[in-house]
Formats: sequence, C-alpha cells, structure tokens
Amino acid sequence: MAKTTVSVIKADVGSFPGHSRTHPKLLEKAAQMLKEAEGTVITDSFVTHCGDDLELIMTHTKGEDNAEIHELAWNVFMECAKIAKEMKLYGAGQDLLGDAFSGNVKGMGPGVAEMEFEERGSDPILVFMADKTEPGAWNFFLYKMFADPFNTSGLVIDPSMHEGFVFEVHDVIAKRRIYFNTPEDTYSLLAYIGAPSRYVIKGVSKKSGEIAASTSTQRLNMMAGRYVGKDDPVMVVRAQSGFPSVGEVIDPFRTPILVAGWMRGSHHGPFMPVGVCDANCTQFDGPPRVICLGFQVSDCKLIGPADMFDDPAFDRVRDKCCEISDLMRNHGPFEPHRLSLDEMEYTTLPGVEKQLKDRWEPLPE
Ligand code: 13P
Ligand code: 13P
Ligand code: MG
Ligand code: MG
Repeated sequence: MAKTTVSVIKADVGSFPGHSRTHPKLLEKAAQMLKEAEGTVITDSFVTHCGDDLELIMTHTKGEDNAEIHELAWNVFMECAKIAKEMKLYGAGQDLLGDAFSGNVKGMGPGVAEMEFEERGSDPILVFMADKTEPGAWNFFLYKMFADPFNTSGLVIDPSMHEGFVFEVHDVIAKRRIYFNTPEDTYSLLAYIGAPSRYVIKGVSKKSGEIAASTSTQRLNMMAGRYVGKDDPVMVVRAQSGFPSVGEVIDPFRTPILVAGWMRGSHHGPFMPVGVCDANCTQFDGPPRVICLGFQVSDCKLIGPADMFDDPAFDRVRDKCCEISDLMRNHGPFEPHRLSLDEMEYTTLPGVEKQLKDRWEPLPE
C-alpha cells in the first residue's frame, strides 16, 4: 500500500461582508473542482471555510510539495477568485500573490500543512483551521498536546508515548530552523515558542521520525511586503496509538489564550473554538476563531468529518472568550490590545508614521 498524504491548502480569495465569511458560491465551486479531480490527481477531498478563509482538505498518494496537487489548489483558488471578483466580494484574490503558478503554492500566498505517512490499522486525524490570527497561534496548543503531562496523560501512562516527541521550530524572520526533543529540551523549546510571532512550530514527530503534526507557517505580509491580512493558519494532527488521543488533542482549546490578529491583523484577542456553523467573524472582525474537523483516514479516503468544537463542553471557553474580548476591547487603540510596535511594522501603521515624519522635532536640551 502506497503512503497516504494529507494536504490542507487554504487561501482567502474574497469574502462577504468585508472579511467575515466565505461565500457559498466559492465553497460550491471549490468542492466541485476537487470532486472532478478525485480518481486522477487526488483520492478524496473535503471543502470548508473558517471565516473568510477557503479550506481545501485533500488526500492523495503523491507526497508532500507535489506540483500537481499544488497546481490543483492554485487553480481552485484562481477560479474562486474569479467568482469573487464578479460579485465584487471583499478582498477578492487577496491571498494570491501573482498570476502564474510556478510549481509550489508556498510563497505565493496560500497556507499549506501537509503530511505523508503509512496508514496504521486505524488512523484518526484532526484538521484545525483558524481565522484572524497567525501561524504561531498553534505553538501553545501543540506544546500542551505533545509535551504537557498535565494535558496529555498518555505521556505519563502510555508506554508508546513515554519517550516524548521532537518539535521542529522555524524562525520565520531569520529563516532558520531547529529541532527540540521533549521532555529533555522542554525549557529551551519554551524559550523560543513563547514568542509565537517569530518562532513557529512547523511540525512534531515521534523520536522514530514518524510524523505526528504539521502546520502552515507562511507569513503573508512578509512575502507581499505590504499589509494583506493575517495568515490564518491550518494544522493537521494525528491521534491515538502512540500519539495523544483525540480528547487530549482538543482539550488544550479549553484554555482561552490571547493570540495576535483580529481587527486589521493588528490586535490581540482570545482564540475562540467554534463549530463550523459559527466559523464567521463578526464582533470587531472576530474574535479570532478556530474550527476542528475530525476524520478517520482509511485507504487514503477521508471518513467524516466530525465537527469537534460543536459541543456544549466548549460553551464555557466561548463564554470566557467573550469576557476577555470585552476586557481587551476596553483598551481601544492601546497596547496590549493593539500589537507591540515591532509587530505593527507588518500592518498599516508605518503608512501613518510616514505621514507624520516631518512633524517630529528634537527635544530641547
Ligand atoms: P476506549 O477504551 O473507549 O477505546 O478509549 C481509550 C482511549 O484512549 C481514550 O482516550
Ligand atoms: P483576514 O486576514 O482574515 O482577511 O482579515 C483581515 C482584516 O483586516 C480583518 O479586520
Ligand atoms: Mg480577508
Ligand atoms: Mg482570514
């Protein structure tokens, strides 16, 4: 049996009203195009959205970074952007940097999380998709899933997890990477991933090398050289039998943490887990949201999805997020609601500074 690859590729190609949600016509077009590609380019697919981000979940046997798969995703985004432009949707074609496909969608705007693996006897996966935040938002949750024994009891009581995991961390500013082994390197890992705007967990694997989790790490603003929204990341996590159980993978989202993004990609706000029916950004263009779809992968087919956060067990965290949202919003344009100055470099603030630069004068001695 050939290895199975799960590719999650996403882009914001236009939304309504403003940046709140993807239009059903785009979802329909994307789903139809992927269905047509089933049996030739891909094996199976599922299309959804989180806020204004169009999410393509695909399975195939062609491996990661495959030109045919990336081209299929690119063509879907281009076709959907065309429909978005016809309807004058907001930000039509927003995340597509360029017109011509050149072999890989990385660096062209879309976010990509992929993993290739040999299917186990039973292979549950969880696909996380976020809107109004940045790739480093996953850091806290991946740490809890794979390195915190107070979250994942399997790290303590399951012999197949007891040796710990390997975290691949990318420095998205200096464009370098490093690997940390847990539990041995726990404090060193935290020294970096606690600064999620710069240090982003790209993937987690078992010490044997078997892949456990994969994220998208694209920083759109840096690639475009101008403000084009946040990167609204995706992540795939494998569960059970040597990995955290499904419940251990989703439990970290019970904790409402602050992430960067929200309005104009320039504010900190609570990361709210919601069901797909609530994956629409409203209040102050947010708050930042995350959905999770669960599947069983079976002979390269996606069995599912299950909408994991569509559950009263997550009502309490949503209520807490609303409370935190009120607290943060009370700050108006003040930090720490507004991002720190070095992060504002990638927003529209430098344009304001440019307008004011001649009005500054030296302080008197
Ligand atoms: P079951 O006994 O229901 O299979 O559950 C085992 C488990 O790992 C729960 O997380
Ligand atoms: P997106 O990154 O989701 O397009 O949002 C941009 C924005 O400016 C929201 O206020
Ligand atoms: Mg948008
Ligand atoms: Mg978005």
